[in-house]
Amino acid sequence: MVKVAVLGAGGGIGQPLSLLLKLSPHVSTLALYDIRGTKGVSADLSHIPSASTVTGHLPGTLPECLAGSDVVVIPAGVPRKPGMSRDDLFGVNAAIVKGLVEAVASHCPGAVICLISNPVNSLVPVCKEVLVRRGCYDPSKLCGVTYLDVCRANTFVGEAMGDDVSVNVVGGHSGNTIVPLLSQTPGISSLSQSKVDALVERIRKGGDEVVSAKEGGGSATLSMAHAGFVFVENVIKALGGDKDVVMPAYTECDVVDGCSFFAVPCRFGKGGVEEVVGLGEISDGERGMIEDMKGALASQIEKGRAWAIDAS
Ligand code: NAI
Repeated sequence: MVKVAVLGAGGGIGQPLSLLLKLSPHVSTLALYDIRGTKGVSADLSHIPSASTVTGHLPGTLPECLAGSDVVVIPAGVPRKPGMSRDDLFGVNAAIVKGLVEAVASHCPGAVICLISNPVNSLVPVCKEVLVRRGCYDPSKLCGVTYLDVCRANTFVGEAMGDDVSVNVVGGHSGNTIVPLLSQTPGISSLSQSKVDALVERIRKGGDEVVSAKEGGGSATLSMAHAGFVFVENVIKALGGDKDVVMPAYTECDVVDGCSFFAVPCRFGKGGVEEVVGLGEISDGERGMIEDMKGALASQIEKGRAWAIDAS
């Protein structure tokens, strides 16, 4: 039983994610923080009879929200509007996330941080620099949440194959940094190469489908709440001693030369990421996709690192 803090809990992702966490039998305390709305959200959720107690926090009580937290989930920040890239969110969201992670460093430095806010590719390196400067960076406890790309891949490929599938998606969380490893999906050879290429493109642009369908109302919230919940609940199970938890996470690792962060399947344990499982067997085409994107991912990582150093 763990304490989970959600920072940005009043938002489009934060509210349904908090609902799912409230229903989890593995959570004992759910602490909700936002600059607005958390009084209402916490009062509302507190009427659900489940294992956890829920508390709501506004600016001024972030320390109480964080104190004793085992896991901190961060969906705080602005989402995309049509025509925007995730990178366009950097300026605003980097400042928000920096402030929140400084508070984590002060009040629950041992917590596992699950960062949802975009651009994940650059903001996880921002978090690292903040934690390094506070003397509490533990690479096994800092994860960018890219699991929505896996959910989309499982859905789109599953529909195409008429079967349940479990797709490995690696790299980063934007555009061509998202690399679905469809060659690892059993039975994928039943699909034509053009169908496979179309699926890769759709997985990479899945977020754009939602942004455009919402017509200015934001980006994925409900599917992200689901993905964030599955990710966080698995992390919690591993913290509690479950030894079979392998989840993709955007983590510091050296699986691809030049990219100090990469989303790859990781084995989680009581200390967070215990082992970076790695890419597994990949096709020449997939190796080419990684070659094509690694320069862009490296510069997005550097953008976050340099910004955080400047801002410190
Ligand atoms: P939203 O605007 O509905 O909610 C964001 C919340 O953050 C708001 O309630 C806002 O008040 C709060 N907030 C702003 N500044 C804050 C601060 N300093 N402290 C605490 N809370 C603060 O946005 P939504 O749709 O929930 O998206 C949140 C983020 O998640 C965006 O950056 C979005 O791009 C990202 N996202 C990430 C995905 C992923 O796969 N990792 C998928 C979809 C969205």
